[in-house]
Amino acid sequence: MSDPTRPGGSPPEPPRSRGPGRGPASEVVASFLVNGEAVRALVPATRTLLEFLRDELGLTGTKHGCDLGDCGACTVLVDGVPRLACLTLVAELEGAAVTTVEGLAADGRLSPIQDALDRHGAAQCGYCTPGIAVNLTALLAEEPHPDDAAIREVLGSNICRCTGYTRILDAAREVAGGGQ
Ligand code: FES
Ligand code: FES
Repeated sequence: MSDPTRPGGSPPEPPRSRGPGRGPASEVVASFLVNGEAVRALVPATRTLLEFLRDELGLTGTKHGCDLGDCGACTVLVDGVPRLACLTLVAELEGAAVTTVEGLAADGRLSPIQDALDRHGAAQCGYCTPGIAVNLTALLAEEPHPDDAAIREVLGSNICRCTGYTRILDAAREVAGGGQ
């Protein structure tokens, strides 16, 4: 069965009450890393990672798009694997390492894919760009020289309404080293 929190998955069932005091409104504690910094969250059991990142940590690079698992704007890495933050509960993250688009840059320098997206003018409104940068980062970590088919498959998880994808593909191909 596909993981609904992975880009391209389908939405999960809503949380169910688990008895007195453990309903959807009850609170949970989770300790995890966000961009290498330790975080201890005390949040409602239904709090999504997307809400937590944006509203409580101020990490607004992760975008709030459809909230349904369809657009990919909220993609982050959890233990190096792309996950949709709108479908991921904070309660699931105990011990995990979360990386957002802000965490892709190091020492004040954009990552190679962020830099390539910028130089190729691959963003217009830019709303899709963080999710695309995160998703391509995961692909390039797994396969440093992906071919066009692999790049296109990953980009299928990110809806861009502005660019037609041409410059995004150019940027990804450059970092991939022109692999075909
Ligand atoms: S997939 Fe999460 S906001 Fe669209
Ligand atoms: S640049 Fe606007 S949605 Fe992609």
